[in-house]
Amino acid sequence: MAFKFNFTSDDLDLEEIDQSNELNSTLNDLSLDEQQAVDKTPCYEYDITTCTLPSAVQADILHIPNVNQPLYKRALGDVKYQMAMQDTLGNEEAEEKKVVNMLDLNSNSDLVRGVYEGGFKTWECSLDLTEYLAKLPKEQISNKRVLELGCGSALPSLFLLQHDSSNHVDVLDYNEQVIQYITLPNILLNTVLQVHASTDEQPEDEEASTEKEKAPEKEKENEDEDEENDEDDEKDGIIGENVTCDAEAELPTEHVPDMLQRISQRTRAFVGDWSGLPAIANCKYDMIVTSETIYSQDALLSLVQTIQKTLKKPDGVCYVAAKTVYFGVGGGVLPFCNLLQETKDEDGDKLVAERVFESDSTVKREVLKVIWLQ
Ligand SMILES: C[S@@+](CC[C@H](N)C(=O)[O-])C[C@H]1O[C@@H](n2cnc3c(N)ncnc32)[C@H](O)[C@@H]1O
Repeated sequence: MAFKFNFTSDDLDLEEIDQSNELNSTLNDLSLDEQQAVDKTPCYEYDITTCTLPSAVQADILHIPNVNQPLYKRALGDVKYQMAMQDTLGNEEAEEKKVVNMLDLNSNSDLVRGVYEGGFKTWECSLDLTEYLAKLPKEQISNKRVLELGCGSALPSLFLLQHDSSNHVDVLDYNEQVIQYITLPNILLNTVLQVHASTDEQPEDEEASTEKEKAPEKEKENEDEDEENDEDDEKDGIIGENVTCDAEAELPTEHVPDMLQRISQRTRAFVGDWSGLPAIANCKYDMIVTSETIYSQDALLSLVQTIQKTLKKPDGVCYVAAKTVYFGVGGGVLPFCNLLQETKDEDGDKLVAERVFESDSTVKREVLKVIWLQ
């Protein structure tokens, strides 16, 4: 089935794993192997304090308009390196947990329905949403209980956590590996870790203690990969000029439990299908944010119902960032808004959407503000 998703899958650059297994997706065409469809993963809370982390993480630096400080997002080459180094799960356990092995994804299944839905990549609408949030008056983005649905890299959450220490931000993603390898390291990078740019200006003794010094092959590999990824990103209009240089942060083993404890005081992480969240979240949110999650017609109703069940009444606000149309899979802004209009919650209340941002790019992107209809 042709599955048009408006981006390439080059972020999962597997060329160094198998040159012959070249990914054949084009800019507007991403393949989905329906043969691999599986039952939905039930939602559960992920224990942040048990997250396995490497001794250092490498990051890209993002400068997003209106956001005062740079945001750091973990470099994909670094994730692949960690995955290659720690083959911790036996096959049976991996099968049971529906773990997707990034290193084994083949060219015919860029997405694995119900297992891996694109969360390793940072999608461009998450930049739009972060930029939009940063323009809001301070009181609208401070002291809030926030939920990010289908978070992946979680840029909006990173901004909200960084912006105001009184914000509590819960994150949810379908895929446990996305939470473990991407979302939580990103949260650490933007909250409790000391990040330094990997530039020549770094003091020599400081540089000597970095992961790079300890693993020179990794340095070379990552440099090549980062260059390729940056090129790909520019081609796709994903992060492009916003990436200025790389950065890294150390995670001394003895400090990791404390760091994880600290982030767990402001964040809960959930894994699995969002429809299971209302039953376990045990709270309502002032704000819900979600980016590039309305691409699939199949998942729209459960997303609308999840928002209805978790958004505070009467004045909770939800921001949905998305491409206007996702060709081939039936998702997009119009079907999402139609469903909002048609769907009442158990009290008979409805949500309503208003467009608050529209890009002037060829592939249109929007940010919708969704509130309770008064
Ligand atoms: C296209 S990615 C977008 C990631 C991120 N929000 C961004 O904009 O960079 C879609 C994300 O939604 C998550 N997702 C899709 N369907 C989901 C579902 N039913 N329940 C929970 N998460 C879901 C996927 O795991 C994936 O991380």
